[in-house]
Amino acid sequence: MELAELLQETWGDVERGALKWRDPFHLPVLSLVGAAGVDARVVTLRLADRGQRRLQCHVDARSPKAEQARAGGPSVWVFYSAASGCMVRMYGAVSLLTDGEDVEAAWARTKPLARRCYLAAAGPGSELAEPGPGYPLALMDREPTRDESEAGRVNFALLRATIDRLDRLDTRVSGHRRAGWTWTGADWEGHWLVP
Ligand SMILES: Cc1cc2nc3c(=O)[nH]c(=O)nc-3n(C[C@H](O)[C@H](O)[C@H](O)COP(=O)(O)O)c2cc1C
Repeated sequence: MELAELLQETWGDVERGALKWRDPFHLPVLSLVGAAGVDARVVTLRLADRGQRRLQCHVDARSPKAEQARAGGPSVWVFYSAASGCMVRMYGAVSLLTDGEDVEAAWARTKPLARRCYLAAAGPGSELAEPGPGYPLALMDREPTRDESEAGRVNFALLRATIDRLDRLDTRVSGHRRAGWTWTGADWEGHWLVP
C-alpha cells in the first residue's frame, strides 16, 4: 500500500468513528495540557473532517478540559480498535468555541437527553454531598423537554482541534506497520516508521 492511500484510509477510519456510535473510533482518548500539567479522558468524537483537518467534541464550558482548551494549547487524540489492532494518534492545536454558527448548529443537533448533563448546577468535577448526576434528580427518570433543555446552552461548548500531525500503527502477528504524516502547510508529508 502507498502512504497516500493509507493516509486517506486513516482519515476515513476516523470520519467513520465520528458518524457511528458503535465504532471503536467513536470514543478516543483526548489529552490536553493545562496549568496543572497533562490530563486525558475519553470523549465522544462528534466531527472529523479531513478537508479542514478538524476533530471536534462537545464539552461543558465549565470543565477542566474546557479550561485546558481555552488556553489554545496542544492536543493528542488517541484512537484504538481492539478488533483490528490499529492505533491512530492525531496531534494539533485546540480551541474552545462557545458562540457562533457552528456552536449553535451543534447545540441544535443535540437531543434533549444528551443536553441533560449541561443542566448540572455546577461544573464537572465539582464536589457533591451525595453521589448523583448533578442535574435535578427529577430528570433522572425522564428526558428534559426541549424548553427545559435550553437552560443548558450556556454551559455547552465545542472543543476543536486542527490536526497537523498524525501517526498510525497496525499491529499484526506477521509484523507491525507504522506510518506518520506531518502537514507542511500545503500537503501531508508521510514516512514509514519503525513500529
Ligand atoms: C464513553 C464516554 C464518553 C464520554 N464523552 C464525553 C464527551 O463527549 N465530552 C465530555 O466533555 N466528556 C465526555 N466524557 C466524560 C469525560 O471522559 C470526563 O470524565 C469528564 O468530562 C471530566 O471532565 P474533565 O476531563 O474536563 O476533567 C465521556 C466519558 C465516557 C466514559
